[in-house]
Amino acid sequence: MTDHSRLQSDLLAQIAAAADPADLDAVRVAAVGKTGAVSLLLKSLGAMSADERKVQGPAINGLRDRVAAAIAERRTVLEAAELDRELEAGRLDLSLPAPPRRKGGVHPTMQVMDEMIAIFAELGFGVAEGPDIEDDFHNFTALNFPPRHPARETHDSFFLPPGADGERKLLRTHTSPVQVRTMRRTNTPPPSSWIAGGQTPPIRIISPGRTYRRDSDATHTPMFHQIEGLVIDRGIHMGHLKWTVDQFIARFFELDSVVTRFRPHHFPFTEPSAEMDVRCDTSGGEVKIGVGDEWSEIVGCGMVHPTVLRNCGVDPDEWQGFAFGFGVDRLARLKYGMPDLRDMFSSDVRWLAHYGFSAFAAPNPASGLS
Ligand code: PHE
Repeated sequence: MTDHSRLQSDLLAQIAAAADPADLDAVRVAAVGKTGAVSLLLKSLGAMSADERKVQGPAINGLRDRVAAAIAERRTVLEAAELDRELEAGRLDLSLPAPPRRKGGVHPTMQVMDEMIAIFAELGFGVAEGPDIEDDFHNFTALNFPPRHPARETHDSFFLPPGADGERKLLRTHTSPVQVRTMRRTNTPPPSSWIAGGQTPPIRIISPGRTYRRDSDATHTPMFHQIEGLVIDRGIHMGHLKWTVDQFIARFFELDSVVTRFRPHHFPFTEPSAEMDVRCDTSGGEVKIGVGDEWSEIVGCGMVHPTVLRNCGVDPDEWQGFAFGFGVDRLARLKYGMPDLRDMFSSDVRWLAHYGFSAFAAPNPASGLS
């Protein structure tokens, strides 16, 4: 066996034994790299005599070609094997069930707010909003709360630290400050009579929003939601109030008609003041609205106190009005039957998955609310 044929069989054996492309590359460099064994042989041709080169030239070039061909062939095999391994590792079993997709939902309180806004919009009410952080004037004084009223004390309200001017702001305890803000915006001419805000009487607004009190049990949470209603016009009386609330309750609970009653109450900002109750039945363990011979409290309301009208620049001899305040979370519980109010704000996605609504189920009175 000549040197060349030993070198050839050595190299071919190494090529066959290369386990991966990196191994193979090392063999390639050792054989046909710049200073590889075959390359050195090729270089040695230059120093040979013409006769010698005639014999060695084809032999060495043939060796180089066979080695190069073997490397190329082995590379194809190794690369195919590597691809197989990768495909095997990344194998997808398409027969496996897909992992469940988490879907968001609309919180029942927000759904009910939208339902309420849709109903009141049909009754001709615009929507007005105000800040969650209020001052004493809008939350209490303008609403005729006497200076020592218990709601001003810290056990009922969340006060912020006093500002530079010593004024203590608070998280509003109800949405009634929005009626003050709406009535006091009388200097701005209304863009048109039916747009809420910036308006002079007649006024017909609801104000949905968050409210805050130091309270926490199964039926109270420190943060809750209210929708306040305000109507100011000439000759307004309790009959208008009762009709409006009756209409709302019937539409909200999707009933043909409802039986309600006024129960005397006290609010500093209304005179007379009342709570309205609706007929209900609790005998089956859950509250059924519109049937039965029990009463469920549904809304606080009354005729806007003349002092409040005066505080807001509205002449009580010319204009009268009514106001009402619904607890939105309470209405959501009555309609959709959640047992504990505190669960509504505990951010438990299982709760939301159970009680939540599809974002596409936008309430509208024409095609049904819920
Ligand atoms: N603001 C009252 C409350 O939070 C509710 C209410 C509103 C009562 C308007 C009468 C008129 O309890």
